Amino acid sequence: MESGRAARPALEGRRILLGITGSIAAYKAAVLCRLLKTAGAEVRVVMTPLAKQFITPLTMATLSKNPILVEFFDPENGAWNSHISLGEWADCLLIAPATANTLAKMRGGVADNLLLTTYLSARCPVVVAPAMDLDMYAHAATQENLRTLAGRGVEIVEPADGELASGLVGKGRMAEPEEIVAFLDALFSRTGKKKTLQGKRFVVTAGATIEAIDPVRYITNHSTGKMGYAIAGELARRGAEVELVSGRTALPTPAGVTRRDVLSADEMFEAAATAFDKADGAVMCAAVADYTPAEVSGTKLKKGEGDLCLPLRRTRDIAAHLGARKGSRMLVGFALETDHEEANAEAKLVKKNFDFVVLNSLRDAGAGFRGDTNKVTLIDRTNREELPLMSKNDVAVRIVDKIETLLAGR
Ligand code: CTP
Repeated sequence: MESGRAARPALEGRRILLGITGSIAAYKAAVLCRLLKTAGAEVRVVMTPLAKQFITPLTMATLSKNPILVEFFDPENGAWNSHISLGEWADCLLIAPATANTLAKMRGGVADNLLLTTYLSARCPVVVAPAMDLDMYAHAATQENLRTLAGRGVEIVEPADGELASGLVGKGRMAEPEEIVAFLDALFSRTGKKKTLQGKRFVVTAGATIEAIDPVRYITNHSTGKMGYAIAGELARRGAEVELVSGRTALPTPAGVTRRDVLSADEMFEAAATAFDKADGAVMCAAVADYTPAEVSGTKLKKGEGDLCLPLRRTRDIAAHLGARKGSRMLVGFALETDHEEANAEAKLVKKNFDFVVLNSLRDAGAGFRGDTNKVTLIDRTNREELPLMSKNDVAVRIVDKIETLLAGR
């Protein structure tokens, strides 16, 4: 068991408030609790009244070495279980298993049991591990609830595909306790960093711009915004004030980030330039259109007999504009290349006056648009650091680490 402790250093001494709801998967909460304790975490358990039908408070009290909380007060002696102090105590509220019912109530702000009131007043990170039948999980209502919760910063440990209590096979099975513990460990490794950027303000541009041709059509690109959103989230986790100037994406706003939605390259220019005035730095992650239709037709363009030539005019280069005025501010750029990658990236570093440039080669498998992974090289005036293929969240951690190092060296 000692090896478990050594393997999860980020969990050592963490205070985990484990919420258990009424699902057959509640039996796994016993193993989960034990693994968390073994990793050196302190665990307190809040159960919903229905959860007691699936696993006994005695089991959980014995494993967590703490009394179990279910009701707002103890009917025997009237002792009050304060949801506010529970929320304050916890470094993380982990709800595992989280039923469809509890997720819906969390979304709606319903406060009809101790666990839900604790959730509503908790300021710590909240992690849910959904567990339910495959159809309940796939239902639009559940999916919408999860998306909304994720948009508010709730972390979700995806359920697995497999055999369910109903005998059906599909997605809805709660993630295994080992996976949930690994998820928490990764979360604390990321978020456990000190608030090293407290007091700093950053602008991040992300996503694709949209250049209207007429009221129906537009020019855009494949950017999903994932990389920029991950960077904005990481900067905020380290205490920075972040203004995210975002082109169109389907992503939820990262916790602690102020988001400003824009459409065109021109709108992004104005928003980023204004935000940069008050900032200590900017990370230019957006895929900005270099050209936009010279004129936007007010009415839908009708097709003619022959081909159509659409005159395009150059947009303004936001990064170059900020680079020319940056003074002592930090400016980080991206270079997405398909050939002569390093030479092109180095040229952008100088031309746009970046402190460093993040080179993405579309020739690398797993890099660039859409996916959750990226493979990048960080290039400044003296060094180049080629990173292996990693998740976009981990790439964001490395980019923000480099920002910190450069700020510290000033
Ligand atoms: N960028 C910007 N404004 C633009 C174009 C690019 O802020 N109008 C920023 C991007 O966010 C990125 C960097 O400049 O940080 C490089 O973008 P990229 O598209 O790779 O290069 P371009 O300058 O557009 O050059 P090219 O298209 O010729 O490769």
